[in-house]
Amino acid sequence: TLASASDNDLWEKSTLNQVLNRGELRVCAEAGYMPFDMRDKKGDIVGFDVDIAKTMAKAMGVKLDIRNTAWDGIIPALLTDKCDIIISGMTITPERNLKVNFTDPYIVVGQTILLSPKLKGKVTNYRDLNDAKYTIATKLGATSDYAVKRYMSNAKLNLFETESEGVLEVVNGNADAFVYDLPYNAIYSAQNEGKVLHLDESFTYEPLGFAIRKGDPDFMNFLNNYLAQIKGDGTYDKIYQKWFAS
Ligand code: ARG
Repeated sequence: TLASASDNDLWEKSTLNQVLNRGELRVCAEAGYMPFDMRDKKGDIVGFDVDIAKTMAKAMGVKLDIRNTAWDGIIPALLTDKCDIIISGMTITPERNLKVNFTDPYIVVGQTILLSPKLKGKVTNYRDLNDAKYTIATKLGATSDYAVKRYMSNAKLNLFETESEGVLEVVNGNADAFVYDLPYNAIYSAQNEGKVLHLDESFTYEPLGFAIRKGDPDFMNFLNNYLAQIKGDGTYDKIYQKWFAS
């Protein structure tokens, strides 16, 4: 049977169709979240997300344009068509899901704690930090921000635009702890031995997904099948090993 007029309409409007016509996939990402999106020495954005985006663009037969976008403006940027997709370690949350659609999760992480070494033994988990005498730093508008407000509401919370500003607060003695996604904290603590103590038991459950505008079943179908394919054929494992094995 022939596709109906409305099916053709849907495909005409699909972001996937626009990407193919343009010959370029525009990805919103924010550099700063190791090992997903970060700057290399040349200033280019590299990481786990970028490598996945590269293979995806290749599968579509189009060029890739990574657009660095501030975290608190990344969903608005997608909604105003500054990019086709957000691939930026974004946690799938119900609140965000009201505004955008998410693919199936491509990885699952959770919040952990980078503690001031001064508090070694005194603070052993997130519950201990839920106290007015403690100051916690994290990134504005990240799920860590929401997690601190939910689980450590008694503590003082200081929010920063970037991960690196937040974690420096602990190193400089201005905060007692930095709360953030486990992968970032694991890499930071490995690279800054003695400056922070990683309490590496996740206290949230956070599937990460790619975000696209609502009402686009054709693009979503491509993305979820593409994810299933690379998870099954070894492509995903290769990229994972490159960025997460240490
Ligand atoms: N997973 C966390 C969130 O969704 C942090 C992601 C931050 N990503 C970034 N590229 N800076 O809020």
